[in-house]
Amino acid sequence: MSVWLLCALLFSLICQTEQDGRSLPIKEVEVYVEKTNTSDLGAWVLNVKWRDELKAGNNESRKVSYDVEVYYTEQMWSVHSETIHVTQGNTALHHWKWTSPIPLQCTSHSVRLRRRDQYHISEWTPLYTYKGEDLSATRIKVFPRDQVFMVGSNITFCCILEKENVPSSDSEFVKRISNRTYITKSLHFDSPSSNSDIRCDVNGSSYSGGSTVFIGYPPDDHSLTCVTRNLTSVECRWEMGRDTGLRGVRRTIYTLNGRVCEINKCVLPAVPNQVTNWTLIAKNDLGVKTLTDTADPTHRVLLRAPSKLSHTAHARSVTLEWSWDMTNCTSFPMICRVMLNGSFYNKTFSGKGLSSIVLDHLQPFANYTVNVSCGSDEHFYKWSEWSNITFTTKEDIPEAVDVWFKYFNQNTYVLWKPLNQQQSHGIITQYELTKGKRREIIGINTLCYNVTTGNERSDQNITVSAKNSAGLSLPTTIIIPGYPDNEVHISRISSRNGEWEYFNSTCGYVVEWFPTYTEKQCTVQWKKIPESEHATWYHTWKQNGEKYTVSVYACNENKPVLLQRSEGYAIEQKPSGRVQDLKGKQNGRNLELYWNEVPLQQQKGFIQGYKVITFLSGSKTPVNTTVTKEPRVNLILDPGTYTFHVSAFTSGGYGGNATLIFNMEIKIFQMIVTTVVGCSAATLVFIIITVLCYRKRKWLKKLLYPDIPKPKLAGKWTTKGMYCTQMTEGYMKCEIQEVHGSECPATAESTHGLDLISSNSTLFPAKHFYQNISESPADVSYYPPLLLCAQKLTSIIENPSYNMTIPELDNVAQISELTLEMQDSYLPAPNFVQKDFVVKDSTCYKPQSA
Ligand SMILES: *[C@@H]1O[C@H](CO)[C@@H](O)[C@H](O)[C@H]1NC(C)=O
Ligand SMILES: *[C@@H]1O[C@H](CO)[C@@H](O)[C@H](O)[C@H]1NC(C)=O
Ligand SMILES: *[C@@H]1O[C@H](CO)[C@@H](O)[C@H](O)[C@H]1NC(C)=O
Ligand SMILES: *[C@@H]1O[C@H](CO)[C@@H](O)[C@H](O)[C@H]1NC(C)=O
Ligand SMILES: *[C@@H]1O[C@H](CO)[C@@H](O)[C@H](O)[C@H]1NC(C)=O
Ligand SMILES: *[C@@H]1O[C@H](CO)[C@@H](O)[C@H](O)[C@H]1NC(C)=O
Ligand SMILES: *[C@@H]1O[C@H](CO)[C@@H](O)[C@H](O)[C@H]1NC(C)=O
Ligand SMILES: *[C@@H]1O[C@H](CO)[C@@H](O)[C@H](O)[C@H]1NC(C)=O
Ligand SMILES: *[C@@H]1O[C@H](CO)[C@@H](O)[C@H](O)[C@H]1NC(C)=O
Ligand SMILES: *[C@@H]1O[C@H](CO)[C@@H](O)[C@H](O)[C@H]1NC(C)=O
Ligand SMILES: *[C@@H]1O[C@H](CO)[C@@H](O)[C@H](O)[C@H]1NC(C)=O
Ligand SMILES: *[C@@H]1O[C@H](CO)[C@@H](O)[C@H](O)[C@H]1NC(C)=O
Repeated sequence: MSVWLLCALLFSLICQTEQDGRSLPIKEVEVYVEKTNTSDLGAWVLNVKWRDELKAGNNESRKVSYDVEVYYTEQMWSVHSETIHVTQGNTALHHWKWTSPIPLQCTSHSVRLRRRDQYHISEWTPLYTYKGEDLSATRIKVFPRDQVFMVGSNITFCCILEKENVPSSDSEFVKRISNRTYITKSLHFDSPSSNSDIRCDVNGSSYSGGSTVFIGYPPDDHSLTCVTRNLTSVECRWEMGRDTGLRGVRRTIYTLNGRVCEINKCVLPAVPNQVTNWTLIAKNDLGVKTLTDTADPTHRVLLRAPSKLSHTAHARSVTLEWSWDMTNCTSFPMICRVMLNGSFYNKTFSGKGLSSIVLDHLQPFANYTVNVSCGSDEHFYKWSEWSNITFTTKEDIPEAVDVWFKYFNQNTYVLWKPLNQQQSHGIITQYELTKGKRREIIGINTLCYNVTTGNERSDQNITVSAKNSAGLSLPTTIIIPGYPDNEVHISRISSRNGEWEYFNSTCGYVVEWFPTYTEKQCTVQWKKIPESEHATWYHTWKQNGEKYTVSVYACNENKPVLLQRSEGYAIEQKPSGRVQDLKGKQNGRNLELYWNEVPLQQQKGFIQGYKVITFLSGSKTPVNTTVTKEPRVNLILDPGTYTFHVSAFTSGGYGGNATLIFNMEIKIFQMIVTTVVGCSAATLVFIIITVLCYRKRKWLKKLLYPDIPKPKLAGKWTTKGMYCTQMTEGYMKCEIQEVHGSECPATAESTHGLDLISSNSTLFPAKHFYQNISESPADVSYYPPLLLCAQKLTSIIENPSYNMTIPELDNVAQISELTLEMQDSYLPAPNFVQKDFVVKDSTCYKPQSA
């Protein structure tokens, strides 16, 4: 135990001796603050320098450490301690920097060091002190002040009071670090501000102090671009970065290749055909940014806009001239582009020192705005800015006039369309119309001119021209065909597209239209359609419910030829008017309603029919609803009072109702009386005639029907037999078994049978009894007695001529009529009739066609 104690004592003694022998190897300690522009307003970095006497021998290096401690001197508060490791070489000079959280002026800072290697730890050096201003200040001072800090910095301020005192309770200086010094908490500044103020007031003292600091960003510019506008100097520009927030003396300073620049622009002399470096340095209190651009200035030509742009305008072209501000422009190859009225001209222009161009295909008498911009043609970089100029082209003769014609009320008119801005090529002053050898000057407001000659049967050759200050337009000739135009059928327009037949038209087609009912001499409109678009047209008029007459003309060497004419509506509407003069006519239970059609102009479409609604008066439900195409209708109605509504309709709908109230009267008694009287009279007449006929029958027979000798037939007539059968309703069918006749003899008497048969007496029930007319003379005897008593009695009695041997050929025609009659009437046995006449000699019987 005592041995251990002895050993320890010995060891410590040895160590002590070694330590003593080399005590405090740290010499020449220096504690200081570097002087800068702003260090008086707040110094943050404490420099400590010392020399270590224990140099490493034989060029070998040793690992050494130093413990460093920093105190606020007055209170001996340790604020920082650190161990620094160095590899000690030949030099034994050391320099350590420490950034303080508060400005070093705030209070005195003391530093002490000790050395440490693997064998020894030296003793602490004495304290080396950097004196704070709280020892000497004669008035209130705040640190830091007038200094620049980055956005986002945390800053601790200190306030040195005049003497030992306490800052007012509302101030931010809350912590005492020495007899006269108070500090704030660490304050955070998170946005740029050109100044931020801190005040330090003392309770019960009129003195106060304060400080201003500046918060901002370092420079952040970019995109340096250098161009030359005249090859003698280079102009460099760049994009500004974000606002640094710093102004005045603290703003960013720019230098380009060592020259101080204006804000955003720098000009240097150009060295053509040599690649040049341009370096821009942007610098402020918080930082530096360096931008570079490298190029041959001849590849960076950005010309100025052409200057003094001037023009010489013609009707359809313009010459533009300008000049350049460059000294050597004439040798410089350029390319120029042009914008005409806001859109690019389809051509660019190039040449050395280009200063004049010609634009063509312009419209006469038009306002133009032209912009010109140019660039280098050899090493194109960018287009220059635009130069602009406005001018008006000169007038040129107008385009030919579109001419048409119109007949109206026995007069002939020539019409033409006014020329629009593009066609007139200037201001139209007059029109000139040539008619034969006569020339008429017509004012610009007249577009329809009376060219009636009085002899409208012959063609007229009319020529129309328009005139402006440049002269007369090419003439338009129209040959107006002799009046009246060849009438054509007016058809109805059925579809929306019209078509017309092929016509060998030499100059296209003209579709012409005018309102059918309100036609006037100048209301016609027309459209010329080129030959290539042959055969269709489509409604150019849009007016609903207005009827138009549309004509299609072909054109033959300027002479129009009417091809077709039609009428119709673009869109049909319901009629706007009602039917006219609605009337009724009663006939027993039958009522005929009739009316006149809707007035033409109110039809508004093609009338397709009429709707007739019948109401029993007082009732709201119709008795009958019927539709008719004709403007009349027959209704069978019971007696009573009726209301009739009649409305016309088109495809567009129903028009308004015309109304008629009609009383169906009871006329039964009248009817009976009429019937009875009529029947009685007829019966009376019949009886009288019958009685007369009967009583005077002998006299009559003598007078009209004397005894006739039996006929002697000249030909070889043979009658083998004839059979007649009674048929329904008094018809009798007869059939000739065999008839032979060499010629056409026995027809004469038969014709009188015809007369009899075709008589119209209604009194005889046997009215339709038609005797077969045959060549047989015996036929006569087959006439029924009743017929003999009829009006044509005389004819029958008069005709004994069946015995005539020579036929009267003038009766052939009558026989033909007979034939007709028989065919019509004897339908029950048509075969018989045909057979009958077919066998006849065709030269004699020429039946008329039915
Ligand atoms: C400043 O202090 C805030 C907290 O108050 C911290 O988040 C921030 O990182 C500090 N900034 C600097 C630059 O030290
Ligand atoms: C600080 O104040 C104390 C007590 O008032 C005084 O003893 C001391 O000397 C002062 N220190 C200085 C450096 O004035
Ligand atoms: C060339 O252009 C620059 C500006 O870019 C101007 O300052 C200079 O005077 C011009 N030089 C000549 C010769 O026009
Ligand atoms: C431009 O700078 C580049 C790099 O910084 C260098 O290599 C080149 O030689 C420079 N050119 C001139 C003409 O100074
Ligand atoms: C201008 O032309 C002259 C003579 O041709 C020449 O010496 C000079 O270098 C040219 N200047 C420029 C900037 O091209
Ligand atoms: C430009 O357009 C006009 C017609 O507008 C034409 O005649 C001419 O050939 C065009 N020129 C070019 C280069 O395309
Ligand atoms: C051209 O412009 C002027 C002024 O705007 C105008 O008075 C004139 O009518 C225009 N001329 C033509 C032809 O448009
Ligand atoms: C045309 O140029 C004139 C000056 O030459 C300028 O004041 C005007 O703004 C320009 N107009 C257009 C549309 O570029
Ligand atoms: C048109 O001219 C003819 C012949 O000169 C004349 O008879 C007729 O009245 C004129 N018509 C009109 C509407 O002026
Ligand atoms: C119509 O008249 C013009 C001039 O008056 C003439 O050139 C043309 O040949 C004439 N045409 C006919 C078909 O007469
Ligand atoms: C049309 O008329 C021209 C001349 O009038 C003639 O040469 C041509 O053969 C005709 N074409 C037809 C299809 O009729
Ligand atoms: C309406 O009257 C017409 C004409 O008299 C007739 O044809 C039709 O059958 C009648 N309709 C009705 C439903 O009675």
